[in-house]
Formats: sequence, structure tokens, C-alpha cells
Amino acid sequence: MIGVATLMLICGLPGSGKTTLAKRLEIEGPAVRLCADEWMAGLGVDLFDVETRVRLERQFWELARRLLTLGQNVILEAGFWLRADRDEKRLGARSLGAAVELHYLDVPLDELARRLEARGTPRITREMLDWHMPLFEPPDPDELNLYDPPRT
Ligand SMILES: Nc1ncnc2c1ncn2[C@@H]1O[C@H](COP(=O)(O)OP(=O)(O)O)[C@@H](O)[C@H]1O
Ligand SMILES: [Mg+2]
Repeated sequence: MIGVATLMLICGLPGSGKTTLAKRLEIEGPAVRLCADEWMAGLGVDLFDVETRVRLERQFWELARRLLTLGQNVILEAGFWLRADRDEKRLGARSLGAAVELHYLDVPLDELARRLEARGTPRITREMLDWHMPLFEPPDPDELNLYDPPRT
């Protein structure tokens, strides 16, 4: 392997700026950015087709592991709402000898709603945000300490 590859996980709710940050990190890395919204749009799939999204994210994780093994940096911007999902990615990447960064975007709900309104698509309403909010497990300081410090 050429150097140590880094897996970057972008964690946050819709509108928190995951794609915006990931696009910066992909240039700075350089890194391969895997974004389900873009792939689903490109494939002509409904962005709210949850089953397809889950399958696509699973394929991304297969590809990410191959790329990390080849020494290539990877960005996953799926939001990573669940601690168990983040743990799986961190431990999986480390087992390949990769570094793992967790970029957590902590943005107040009112600001998320404002940004989503301004962005337009995919259409996510304040009601959807309020409904999803309790499902989100924000990383605490102890969890953040388990990751390699972000380079940026
Ligand atoms: N740090 C920021 N401050 C203000 N607005 C931002 C910031 N990051 C992103 N945005 C804007 O908020 C909207 C949502 O950002 P986006 O990157 O698409 O979020 P996500 O991928 O998490 O849904 C976009 O219109 C984007 O331009
Ligand atoms: Mg996005």
C-alpha cells in the first residue's frame, strides 16, 4: 500500500452542509467522494426510495474498502445518524490499516430548515426534519475521540 489511506465520514442531518464540505475535502484529499443523492439522480431513481438508498450505501461501503486497500482516500457523506453504523465504518477501515476521520456538522434545526428551503432539492420539509430528528444519534466527545484528528 502507498502510504496510509484515510476514510472520511461526514455526519449530520439534511442541510447541515455534508455535500458542501465533502466537495472541499475531495479536492484537498484528494479523495473519492461517494454520494448516494448524486448516484440516485444519475440513475433516475426516486431520491426517497429508501430501499435502493440502503442497497447503494452498502455497495459504496464495498467499494470504499477496496479503494482504502489500494491506498486511496474515500469520503462517505451518508449522514451516519446511527452510532452502530459509524462504529462499523470506523472499525472496518481500521482493520484495513486506514485512518478514519469523523466530520460532524452540528447545525441548529431552524438553520437546517432555512438552508433546505433555500436549496430546494431534494425537497425536505420542516415537518420531515422534526419527525426524523429523534432518530439522529449525535456523536458525543468520547466518541469523537475515537477518530483520527481531521487534517482540516
Ligand atoms: N457552512 C454553511 N453555512 C451556510 N450555508 C451552508 C453551509 N454549508 C452548506 N450551506 C448551504 O446549505 C445548503 C445545504 O448544504 P448541503 O451541502 O447540500 O447539505 P447536505 O449535503 O448536508 O444536505 C446548500 O444550499 C448549501 O449551499
Ligand atoms: Mg448532500
